[in-house]
Amino acid sequence: MKTIAIANLKGGVGKTTTTVNLAYSLEYLGKKVLVIDLDPQCNCTRFFARVSNQGNTIDGLLRNPEKINRMIYRTKYNGIDIIRGASDAECEDPHLLKRALEHRNKDYDFCVIDTRPVFDTLTRNAFHAADILLTPIKFDNYCRDNLALVEHFYDEYVLEENDGLEWMIFANMVANAKAQRKTMADILDKHNYPILDTCISRSAVVDNALGLYKPVLKHRKNSTVALDYLELAKELIG
Ligand SMILES: Nc1ncnc2c1ncn2[C@@H]1O[C@H](COP(=O)(O)OP(=O)(O)OP(=O)(O)O)[C@@H](O)[C@H]1O
Ligand SMILES: [Mg+2]
Repeated sequence: MKTIAIANLKGGVGKTTTTVNLAYSLEYLGKKVLVIDLDPQCNCTRFFARVSNQGNTIDGLLRNPEKINRMIYRTKYNGIDIIRGASDAECEDPHLLKRALEHRNKDYDFCVIDTRPVFDTLTRNAFHAADILLTPIKFDNYCRDNLALVEHFYDEYVLEENDGLEWMIFANMVANAKAQRKTMADILDKHNYPILDTCISRSAVVDNALGLYKPVLKHRKNSTVALDYLELAKELIG
């Protein structure tokens, strides 16, 4: 199982949108996927859930990592299961999720974890369990500062905690590749950031699909942005 923690210290850059669309694109390509909602906002739980508000959540898993089987629910998509989020999820040990996932490592091809824009102990559970830290960014005037912060955290984390964690960045909400080329060139020239080839276009299809709780690939299969998410999935499959 390849585990991907989707994280950025910045809010609203598309972490949850990436989680749900990447999970669906991976499933579309024949992969078995476990989604974990580590964000107390529980946005991706609402997106995927077929389940009621009752039942087990990530909070139960963090209290009892050995009981992971009880925390996994099926979604409306055959190849996607979910560990649901909890508004009161908190913990003091960053190793709990990794410990839990070791029990189900062979049952999934990918695990995709949505996080909140805070690198606290809850989010560190995702970093500790992950093979890849996947950071969506918006190419704007602030993104250099944003990336510098994440890089600082990543360097320290890799040194002290999980030296197997690989960092990958991709541009989300790309409106006009030409206009954004200068910002991109500035970043790429001055730093050696691990930026993926795939960019995700800015598109109204994303919000329209979200309004229906549908992945964009299901909502508008031939749209540019649906094909972008497929490319992202393929690039991560490697
Ligand atoms: N490629 C895109 N094109 C257009 N809109 C997008 C795109 N990606 C994300 N959005 C929109 O941006 C908004 C924020 O996205 P999202 O909720 O995924 O961000 P987030 O990083 O998870 O936020 P938070 O930090 O609050 O968890 C949503 O309205 C979403 O529909
Ligand atoms: Mg989110």
